[in-house]
Amino acid sequence: MSDNRPIGFIDSGVGGLTVVKEALKQLPNENILYVGDTARCPYGPRPAEQVIQFTWEMTNYLVDQGIKMLVIACNTATSVALDEIKAALPIPVIGVILPGTRAALKATKNKQVGVIATLGTVKSGAYESALKEKAPELTVSSLPCPKFVSVVESNEYHSSVAKKIVAETLAPLLTKKLDTLILGCTHYPLLRPIIQNVMGENVTLIDSGAETVGEVSMLLDYFEISNNPIPGRTISKFYTTGSPKLFKEIAQDWLPLDELEVEHIELGGN
Ligand code: DGL
Repeated sequence: MSDNRPIGFIDSGVGGLTVVKEALKQLPNENILYVGDTARCPYGPRPAEQVIQFTWEMTNYLVDQGIKMLVIACNTATSVALDEIKAALPIPVIGVILPGTRAALKATKNKQVGVIATLGTVKSGAYESALKEKAPELTVSSLPCPKFVSVVESNEYHSSVAKKIVAETLAPLLTKKLDTLILGCTHYPLLRPIIQNVMGENVTLIDSGAETVGEVSMLLDYFEISNNPIPGRTISKFYTTGSPKLFKEIAQDWLPLDELEVEHIELGGN
């Protein structure tokens, strides 16, 4: 059995590309459609109701194109909209928070786990409650990092400014004796080398988005909806509500794709 309908990925901007990167590696046979709502990024400081509305707009855009599965490749959107969207759609819908949580539980030895995320995700308490539900003895230290997303979206994530912002922001975590730190925002893996450098080699970084792809793979098997294409015939198509040029620059730096199709779209009248 083969199902060549695409898998849909959504994020507030380029962050979900960190999930797509892993999908291209683990699921090279799958067709991919991606929406980044760059024009309205960041979602982190926005009220939950607005994030839910924007997430629905991205979702409906991809559902109209016939996706077979939806990956909410954004922690902020997952934390407030996953349950509602999952309940409403007839296709499997996956968020990035639970896979990250499971990986952290597996990695930690000293039970001191950190979570860095957007303000919205930290406020929702989604990681903390998911971690504590499985392991009440954990100590969880959550820290919002409101400046990280704009550093990534402006393609500054290799710069010395990025190094300075990461070092200053993460300073409060250095006294916490963490052995595991969840990158609870899909934009953050683009800053991973800098984050690792600041936290030190003994802290295991968990890329929640990349962990999610293992679950996507499992669900494709479970529902028997994997694709078996003619080699070289898979497509990846990217839509952004912002500038296709900037989106493409970052996507080209990040993804192992020779040709990238990026198209501008309008959502919700932006
Ligand atoms: N990439 C997103 C996340 O995982 C959202 C970043 C933002 O728009 O604030 O939370």
